[in-house]
Amino acid sequence: MATYKIALFPGDGTGPEVLREGLKVVKAAADKFGFSIDTTEFDFGGDRYLRTGEILPDSAIEEFKKFDAIYLGAIGHPDVKPGILEKGILLKTRFALDQYINLRPVKLYPGVETPIKDKGPEHIDFVVVRENSEDVYTGLGGNMREGTPHEVASQLMIYTRNGVDRCLRYAFECARKRNKAKTLTLCGKTNVLTYVFGLWERAFHEMGEKEFPDIKRDYAHVDATTMWMVKNPEWFDVIVTANLFGDIITDLGAMIQGGMGIAAGGNINPKGVSMFEPIGGSAPKYTGLNVINPLACIFAGQMLLDHIGETTAALAIEDACVSYLKSDKNVGLSAKEIKDGGSSTTKIGDIIADLVSNS
Ligand code: IPM
Ligand code: MN
Repeated sequence: MATYKIALFPGDGTGPEVLREGLKVVKAAADKFGFSIDTTEFDFGGDRYLRTGEILPDSAIEEFKKFDAIYLGAIGHPDVKPGILEKGILLKTRFALDQYINLRPVKLYPGVETPIKDKGPEHIDFVVVRENSEDVYTGLGGNMREGTPHEVASQLMIYTRNGVDRCLRYAFECARKRNKAKTLTLCGKTNVLTYVFGLWERAFHEMGEKEFPDIKRDYAHVDATTMWMVKNPEWFDVIVTANLFGDIITDLGAMIQGGMGIAAGGNINPKGVSMFEPIGGSAPKYTGLNVINPLACIFAGQMLLDHIGETTAALAIEDACVSYLKSDKNVGLSAKEIKDGGSSTTKIGDIIADLVSNS
């Protein structure tokens, strides 16, 4: 029987609560489909930082390398200055493990409300492949004369041919594997950021022509992309984009698929250790109330299993989530709806785990 080593990283706020439910469902799938999960928990996050001053030591990164995947709850603490944990934990892990893809499915499930009038599950089903290792996120730049009227600051949008190529290749393969519209849309800003997106555009067409003639190539500026995502989301199959643009458009993506309570993502190194997470953050005001929606984390678990090769189990989790969402047990995705509807974080996890076990 296959055993997978999974590093659990509950993190801050409601992270531990949603991860508990995600793990419950993943374990139900493991039992059902005949594999096992061997977990080790890491307690890095805001609380530990406030207690000990330690953020994420290099030794933890070395430890992570021994796992098949990392399953993250959430990072972000109200008493820690913004930037410290984001950079010190999330970005450090992404960079140190070279998780150069940030994969974010945008899929509207039946039973979930979208704020877009007249759009349903048949219109909203695409994937954003966000580059995850370059761009302004490299931190190159600096400032001088800080705090004076003559202050100068820069933060450089850096791209390398190799970094662009490996991201494009993943995105083309993703479009091929989905086997839907077989269309890859490059989202950029070729009309202004001519150097960076000139590189992206050339690499995109060269690779497409040579290696992926079966995939249709499309292009949209990032500003127009936000417009089409709302007006005509059905136009998209796979979107490939730069790190910062991807960060921005995937929050919009999360909203059109029903909100942060449902959106999951993966930080992927196709040949290394990848990390899966609900993208909504730690929602500290709901900590310990058992009202936060665990679905996003459950979907992150689905992505994790799919990534490690347990595709049947992953599909069973998705099907269980769909059954739950369509059922009258689904009282809504927000903490308020979950509370007012008499449901809870643990209840939702139990229902979905049972659905997986009985699938
Ligand atoms: C995300 C987050 C992170 C990002 C932050 C917290 C560093 O917004 O995962 O989208 O900008 O990538
Ligand atoms: Mn973001």
